[in-house]
Amino acid sequence: MSRTFSIIKPDATRRNLTGKINAVIEGAGLRIVAQRRIRMTREQAEAFYGVHKERPFFGELVAQMTSEPVVVQVLEADNAVPAYREIMGATNPENAAEGTIRKLFALNVGENSVHGSDSDENAAIEIAQFFSDDQIVG
Ligand code: CMP
Repeated sequence: MSRTFSIIKPDATRRNLTGKINAVIEGAGLRIVAQRRIRMTREQAEAFYGVHKERPFFGELVAQMTSEPVVVQVLEADNAVPAYREIMGATNPENAAEGTIRKLFALNVGENSVHGSDSDENAAIEIAQFFSDDQIVG
């Protein structure tokens, strides 16, 4: 078993899609072992997406992620990182495969409904940013 970090983004919480997205996650066999709805601060968003700070969309990304509540989650599965990336679909929903979360729900590349870690190393870093060990119950 391994873990990945997930965010249900503001475009999805705004449209009341938390349960529908969780149903896709659980239907694919991933377990939600921690979950919290928060309003992300500017400091949290800038730190979380620090790797993108030179990208032209950074300002818009931080504004979007702090605009409305998000749901932060820890997901557990065999090979959790690639398992979740497969059901999220491509970053740009125009390129996402049928049945994926982004194909089903995303509006555009910026409002793409979910985030998932891209490596085990980043998953550990991202999980630690939002959850302590005792808040994760597998
Ligand atoms: P995420 O997986 O959360 O990681 C960085 C985010 O930047 C990405 O999903 C997109 O929502 C957002 N983003 C906005 N514009 C772009 C873009 N042109 N290319 C890649 N990511 C973008």
